[in-house]
Amino acid sequence: MNIRKLHTDEHPPIDLLVLADPSESLVEEYLHRGECFVAESDQKIIGVYVLLPTRPETVELVNIAVIEPMQNQGIGKRLVIHAMQTAKSRGFKTMEVGTGNSSIGQLALYQKCGFRMTGIDSNFFVKHYAEEIFENGIQCRDMVRLAKEF
Ligand code: COA
Repeated sequence: MNIRKLHTDEHPPIDLLVLADPSESLVEEYLHRGECFVAESDQKIIGVYVLLPTRPETVELVNIAVIEPMQNQGIGKRLVIHAMQTAKSRGFKTMEVGTGNSSIGQLALYQKCGFRMTGIDSNFFVKHYAEEIFENGIQCRDMVRLAKEF
């Protein structure tokens, strides 16, 4: 598997990006403002993430996703580690990420990569998404914010 920056003349893998965030307009905005990276295996894109500068020295990891048949094989963790190395090499000092209160696997992944919880954006998903979201039998209401300092 190889992780590389998406070339400027390439189409971003929208189907994969919307796995992490169903709002296509938000995904388009992130692509416009951030840098997109893809994981490839046998010339097929199997993973993606976007680095979004938010404040001086702070970058947010958004839209990280792995194709469904290849989830739970360590690719997500490799993408997070690659994102942290890339952000550090660009001079960022802090990486932030946000996920749902019901996203148990994602909360595990980020904490296993050294992220600590910094806050809760209460009712974020209730306010910003038209449909109710359920995962792991839990309603997704709040956004859990996490951060890692380099
Ligand atoms: N309890 C404990 N640990 C869990 C867990 C759970 N329920 N679910 C996952 N993990 C752990 C794994 O054990 C692994 O840790 P380890 O390496 O110490 O064993 C770690 O989380 C990462 O697993 P990995 O196989 O690298 O994850 P992945 O390749 O499936 O990628 C996602 C993770 C989130 C990118 C992937 O599942 C995905 O694309 N989901 C849909 C899109 C999405 O939700 N994106 C994130 C938006 S916030």
